[in-house]
Amino acid sequence: MPGQYARLRDDRGLMPGAVDELLRYIPVMNGVVVLQAVKDFELHGQRIHTGDAVLPVLAAANRDERVFTDAERLDLCRTDNPHLTFGRGAHNCIGAHLARAQMTVCLEALLDRFPALHLPHGHFPTWDDESPSKSPLTLPVGW
Ligand code: HEM
Repeated sequence: MPGQYARLRDDRGLMPGAVDELLRYIPVMNGVVVLQAVKDFELHGQRIHTGDAVLPVLAAANRDERVFTDAERLDLCRTDNPHLTFGRGAHNCIGAHLARAQMTVCLEALLDRFPALHLPHGHFPTWDDESPSKSPLTLPVGW
């Protein structure tokens, strides 16, 4: 995200929106919420029966072009951001506010301590694709 780090470093007022955009873009947890259908219905041509387990892919929902303008782009200034990273409805994540506060504290410290943090040219993170949680296996950085 060239430029976006510097933008956040120089304008901390962007922080609340930036935290939610980061949560949208890389939702951390994926495929760990299993829902159970309480009635028969059809979804995209697929018949779901009462009692069926449904595994929503939150990361895909968060990149839905019908909901998010330019969904594939990380935009720390995005304002309308109804992402599903913390779920939705009665069992919406009870720790969402704590998670946001922790991310804010960590990002503030990182921006203060490493103002020029960047991915070295030609280097990219590698991701753990085996796990339902989205986490980097390697994260090369320069500062
Ligand atoms: C970035 C960090 C986090 C993410 C991405 C996350 C994500 C989620 C998701 C997707 C759900 C399921 C929502 C649903 O079923 O609709 C959930 C539920 C839950 N989360 Fe989190 N969570 C995070 C941090 C936390 C923290 C810090 C706590 C507690 C301190 C927490 C406690 C819970 C609990 C207790 C539930 C179950 C709520 C219920 O079933 O009513 N989470 N979380």
